[in-house]
Amino acid sequence: MEIDRRAFGRALVAPLAVLPALASAQPAALKALVPKGWLIGVALNQNQSDGRDAVAVELVTRQFNAITPENLLKFQSVQPQPGAFTFDAQDRYVAFGRDRGMAVIGHTLVWHSQTPAWVWASSDGGLADRATMLERMRTHITTLVGRYKGRIRGWDVVNEALNDDGTLRDSPWRRGIGDDYIAKAFEFARQADPSAELYYNDYNLATRPEKRAGAIRIVKDLQQRGLRVDAVGEQGHWRLESPTPAAIDQTITELRATGLKVMITELDVNLLPTAGPRGQPPAPETNPYVNGLPEDVQQALARYYADAFRVFLKHRDAITRVTFWGVSDGDSWLNRGRVNHPLLWDRQRQPKPAFASVANVLTTT
Ligand code: G3I
Repeated sequence: MEIDRRAFGRALVAPLAVLPALASAQPAALKALVPKGWLIGVALNQNQSDGRDAVAVELVTRQFNAITPENLLKFQSVQPQPGAFTFDAQDRYVAFGRDRGMAVIGHTLVWHSQTPAWVWASSDGGLADRATMLERMRTHITTLVGRYKGRIRGWDVVNEALNDDGTLRDSPWRRGIGDDYIAKAFEFARQADPSAELYYNDYNLATRPEKRAGAIRIVKDLQQRGLRVDAVGEQGHWRLESPTPAAIDQTITELRATGLKVMITELDVNLLPTAGPRGQPPAPETNPYVNGLPEDVQQALARYYADAFRVFLKHRDAITRVTFWGVSDGDSWLNRGRVNHPLLWDRQRQPKPAFASVANVLTTT
């Protein structure tokens, strides 16, 4: 409970006079500020969906109306060995959202990463043939989507199928099955839960026009095949320099022209320069904010988020969800051995100026 106790005490004796003070002591809840029908979501790690991180649980419960599992529903988490499905933590994640009346998102069914090697392997150690790989894909999707039928609102069916130049990535799924592995994944997902929303999800759609064109080709192909596809997800792993608000605007304009909804599915803003080689301690110049974020950068982050949300609101009838990739700065995948500050809450789980700027845009626009 974040109401200031003294303000609350004063409210008991002079209710009308202190109402504004009470209102300012209560941080705004993003879910109460977004346009009606919008989902505002956050990715949860397992400590959070299992309830061990109580501070984050309280924050998520108060602020958000949608959740995505950061890792739990990926292939290697769900089916590490053939036929050995694990659902314990996954069930708790789904219950976390359902208990709170949140939209529960599934991430992700078919991806080249975080998928165990056996999925693509033949018995002689080479690449499995089309029929074998399709059967593994179908079993995985049918089992996983089927288990949460009616409880998971929508699925990132295929994740990151594109190269930055817009051509199809040379994923083992594609090598084994052919280009129609994407269509097959959507077909199996639809069969497993006809009422679940189905999404194509990728990154750099706002920074690379040719990749965006590739995503549009994918969804048009799905549409021409008569398959269900509800939205395109731009992950939204962005930086202060790029994409610009104009590029975000152009991206949403082009994506929505397909007739699909648009989602920002993994939003964060990386404030660090490009990292040095993996496995080595970071050079100090690549890790400049170890002792906190300088005020000018803090403000630049707040402005960036405000500008982005202004564009989202301009397209409020096409955007259906904005999800942040992590609760607070300390939770973010963008740290990876360094100290990054990409989100709306800091390491102490306190709202940053970026939180206030987003809340302000949602309130005033
Ligand atoms: O669970 C193991 C643990 O047992 C082991 O001790 C530890 C040692 O490194 O690794 C743990 O696994 C890590 C896993 O996150 C869970 O924390 C992996 O190493 C690590 O690579 C993995 O990173 C995840 C990454 O996807 C993998 O590609 C990030 O948490 C997750 O935020 C990130 O999310 C992706 C989206 O799914 C797709 N879009 C891009 C986004 C960011 O990369």
